[in-house]
Amino acid sequence: MTQLTPHLRYLPYAQQQTLWLENVSIKQLASQVATPFYCYSKAALLNNIHACKAAFEAENIHIHYAMKANSNLSLLRIVAEQGLGVDIVSIGEMHRALSAGFDAQDIVFSGVGKTTAELTAAVLAGVGQFNLESKEELAVLITIANKHQQLLSALIRVNPEVTVDTHKNITTGAKGNKFGVNFDAVLPMLETAKHSPFIQINGLAMHIGSQIHTTAPYLDAIAKIQTLISELKTQGYPLTELDLGGGFGVQYKDHQMLTSNTGGSGSDSLAFSDFSQAIRSALPHWQGRISIEPGRSLVADIGVMVSEITYIKESQPTSFVVLDAAMNDLMRPALYQATHALIPVKSPFTSRLTEYDVVGPICESTDTFAKSAQLPNDLAAGDLMCFLYTGAYCAVMSNSYNSRPIAAEVLVDDDQAYVIRQAITQENLIAFEQHTALKLI
Ligand SMILES: Cc1ncc(COP(=O)(O)O)c(C=O)c1O
Repeated sequence: MTQLTPHLRYLPYAQQQTLWLENVSIKQLASQVATPFYCYSKAALLNNIHACKAAFEAENIHIHYAMKANSNLSLLRIVAEQGLGVDIVSIGEMHRALSAGFDAQDIVFSGVGKTTAELTAAVLAGVGQFNLESKEELAVLITIANKHQQLLSALIRVNPEVTVDTHKNITTGAKGNKFGVNFDAVLPMLETAKHSPFIQINGLAMHIGSQIHTTAPYLDAIAKIQTLISELKTQGYPLTELDLGGGFGVQYKDHQMLTSNTGGSGSDSLAFSDFSQAIRSALPHWQGRISIEPGRSLVADIGVMVSEITYIKESQPTSFVVLDAAMNDLMRPALYQATHALIPVKSPFTSRLTEYDVVGPICESTDTFAKSAQLPNDLAAGDLMCFLYTGAYCAVMSNSYNSRPIAAEVLVDDDQAYVIRQAITQENLIAFEQHTALKLI
C-alpha cells in the first residue's frame, strides 16, 4: 500500500494496485462515471474545516467560507452544517448558499461590481454583511436601503497596498488593483453613510490575494489598517469590525513529494494556526469582531480530477500524453500557469520514468497541463490519470469551450460515492440554442 495523502492511496483493485480515495476505488468509479470527472473526499473536507475552526475559533475569529473556490451544493451543505458562515460574490452564489442551508445573517457579500439588482436581492434576503468596494456602490446601497427601510451592516473594503509574493494574477491588495478603496476614501464614505438611517458601517475589510505562504503581508496590512482605524476614531468614527479576507496558501505538492519524505521542491505551507496566532498577536488590544474568508485552503486538497489517456503521441523533440480532459475542465494551468501533480490510477512506482508534455484536445496551445512531466514509460491509451489538489478553483471554472460537456462531480464518503453534479451534456448545452429564431425586435 502506498499512502499519498491521508485520504488517497494505492491499494489492490482487481489484482492491480490502483488509486483509492477514502475507501472507494477510482477505477471502479470511472467504470460508472464518464471521464473527465471531479471526485472529492468528505473526510478531507471535514478535516480541513475542523483544523480551521480549531485554529481561528480559539482566537475568537469568525470564518466565512469563500464559496467561489468550490460552490457545489453538497459541499456547501457540509460547510453550513459545520457552522461556518459564507462569503459570496454574486447573487447566484447567494441562492446556492441559502439553498445549502446558510442563514442569510451569516452571509458576507463581497465583490467589486455588485449590480443594483444583486444588492436589492441581497437586501431583501437579509444578507448579514455588505463589503463595500466604492463610494459609488455605497450610494446605490443607500438608495436601496432607504427604499426598503431596511437596516444594513456594512464594512468598507480597503486596499492596503501591500506586496504579496504570489502569482501576479491573484494579488488583490496591491497598488492599482481594482479591489477595495484607497485609505483616503474611507472617511468621506463614513461621512456619507452617517446621513443614512439605514446603513451602519461597522468596520473595514481587506483581501490581499491568494496563495499567500507567509504571515508578513497580513501583518503589514493589519498594521496599516490599525493606523487608519486610530485616525478614524479621532475623527469620531470608532470602528469595531475587521474582515481580513482569505488567501492562506496551499502546497500543490508534486507526486515525488507525496511518495517520499524528502520534502521535494518548495517549503511546507503554514498551518491555519500560524495565521490565526499571527493575526491575533498583531491585534492584541482589539476588542471588536474579527472575521476571515478562506476559500482555497479549505477545499484545494479534498479533490482529484480523473481523466483518461486518449493517445500517447510519439513525437520529436517531445512526446505527448493526450488526455480526454482539457483546459475547459481544469483551467488553472492555462489561466495562471498553475501545475497540478498528475499520477496514474494504476500504481506507477515500479515503472521507469519518461518525459512527456501532457495536453488536452482543445485547439489552443495553452491547453497544456504540464511540460516535461516525468511519467511512467508504460502508460498507454485508455489508462486513467488523476490530477491532484483540484478541489479549489477547478470545477467552478469549467466551461464548455469547443462544445465540450461540463464534467461531473462525485463525493466520496468512506466506501460510498455519490454524483453531486451530473455532467452537463452536449444535449443540455444546445437546448438553449434550439430556437435561435426567437424574434426580439
Ligand atoms: C473577497 C475575497 N475573499 C476571500 C477570497 C478567498 O481567497 P482564497 O481562496 O485564496 O482563500 C477571495 C478570493 O479571490 C476573495 O476575492
